Amino acid sequence: MGSQQTNLPPHVLIFPLPMQGHVNSMLRLAELLCLHDLDITFMVSDFSHQRLLKHTTVATRFGKYPGFRFQTISDGLADDHPRAGEKIMDILPGTKNVTGPLFRKMMEEKNCFETATRRGITCIIADGVLSFAGDLAEEKGIPLIYFRTVSSCSFWACFCIPDIIEAGDLPLKGNGMDLLVKSVPGMENFLRRRDLPGFCRVNDVNESKLQTLKTETRQTPRAQAAIFNSFEDLEGPVLSEIRKYMPRIYSIGPSHSHLHSRLESKNMQLSISSGSFWEEDRSCVDWLDSQEPKSVLYVSFGSVTLVTNDQLHEFWHGLVNSGQKFLWVMRPDSITAKNGEAKIPVELEEGTRERGYMVGWAPQEEVLNHPAVGGFLTHSGWNSTLESIVCGVPMICWPYFADQMINSRFVSEVWKIGLDMKDTCDRVIIEKLVRELMDVRKDEFQERSKHMANLAKKAVSEGGSSYENLESMVEFIRSMIV
Ligand code: UDX
Repeated sequence: MGSQQTNLPPHVLIFPLPMQGHVNSMLRLAELLCLHDLDITFMVSDFSHQRLLKHTTVATRFGKYPGFRFQTISDGLADDHPRAGEKIMDILPGTKNVTGPLFRKMMEEKNCFETATRRGITCIIADGVLSFAGDLAEEKGIPLIYFRTVSSCSFWACFCIPDIIEAGDLPLKGNGMDLLVKSVPGMENFLRRRDLPGFCRVNDVNESKLQTLKTETRQTPRAQAAIFNSFEDLEGPVLSEIRKYMPRIYSIGPSHSHLHSRLESKNMQLSISSGSFWEEDRSCVDWLDSQEPKSVLYVSFGSVTLVTNDQLHEFWHGLVNSGQKFLWVMRPDSITAKNGEAKIPVELEEGTRERGYMVGWAPQEEVLNHPAVGGFLTHSGWNSTLESIVCGVPMICWPYFADQMINSRFVSEVWKIGLDMKDTCDRVIIEKLVRELMDVRKDEFQERSKHMANLAKKAVSEGGSSYENLESMVEFIRSMIV
């Protein structure tokens, strides 16, 4: 390195798994590091990059940081691959078999990512499921930090999979789903088999999904540190368990709220919702403007969930029968149909006009922050859960897969800020839960959610745990410059 480069800031390569929830939260991390004047190369799939440029203000958002640049790479899937439902999991072999070798080639090029104004890569912050990035970092002697986009509770349960298998709770055999799992320290009193992360739902402990999950999670401690999008008042006990295996854990979340708080303190414009892969339909905000405070249930199942026609009808009848107003996000690619006719049934669309509003994709953070929203029927994706927590909006959880199964258990049994309707989809139950959340037990849920929202805000404010953890992490990265 030339002597003029010794004054250059650290250069961090950030590498998310190319899925909406992962790209979103790692973009926020990138911006938090840009605010600390670090140089960032953000490795993103061509597909995600095109979606970001098409539907968001990401170019303007990062245009103001001279140290930020995107680097694109293939995700190994065809352009017309659905990238939804169970099919989204094709992204794991895709990245391993195609992205991994391409990444290696890039990293082995002369002066890899180093220019006259940027030093070579100081450190790689890789998504915790991209172990090939970890292999390469280790091989090249580049410091490695893993970023886990899932909840700490989900990570910890996955970390304990070998013990869960040994205790005989895995494989899940269909019955006994309500039995308690005793081999995840700290969760002995409330974690049932049905709450284990979705990939545990297999009949054989040698099943490849379960094996991948186990291997990817167990390899995390080889990194110098790990970042969690969480905060101490939310998941402190679980984070303490993880620290026994990996002392350098930085909980810096909720990352979106943290980012807002840092931007605000610098009088910079907030970049709400600027990481979407779909075009946001803002007409729903105008509709919310005309509704009573806390009267609307927001319904959204995230970026990859698929629903069948039957499930759609159960939800719709349950919502209408509850008598509540609702705002429903129905992604155009989210409906599965037996006869290939995957579209919103006309009667549902027409029937919704009386009590609700439907859009293909919403500006979610803004919606959750709207005074008219009083509850969230969610798939319990980790970003959605955190966004709801920050806005003090109680939840009804209908988890679809992965970490969502355990997130919903924590929402209902640990934090007590919502209700869990896992493994059911019945109009009578939906109606009952909506009434309970929005009416019968409204005050108690509102009060507890508000309390948690205050704790989240405290964590990201100056002196708060997430604020201080981010400062320590940046110091740690700066100390890597030799
Ligand atoms: C996936 C996994 O399913 C999830 O469990 C894991 O924690 C992260 O990756 P996803 O389905 O994308 O998540 O859900 P989630 O993590 O909640 O992220 C969805 C993101 O899309 C949120 O940031 C949300 O604000 C945004 N969104 C969703 C919108 O902006 N508009 C919408 O209409 C719906």
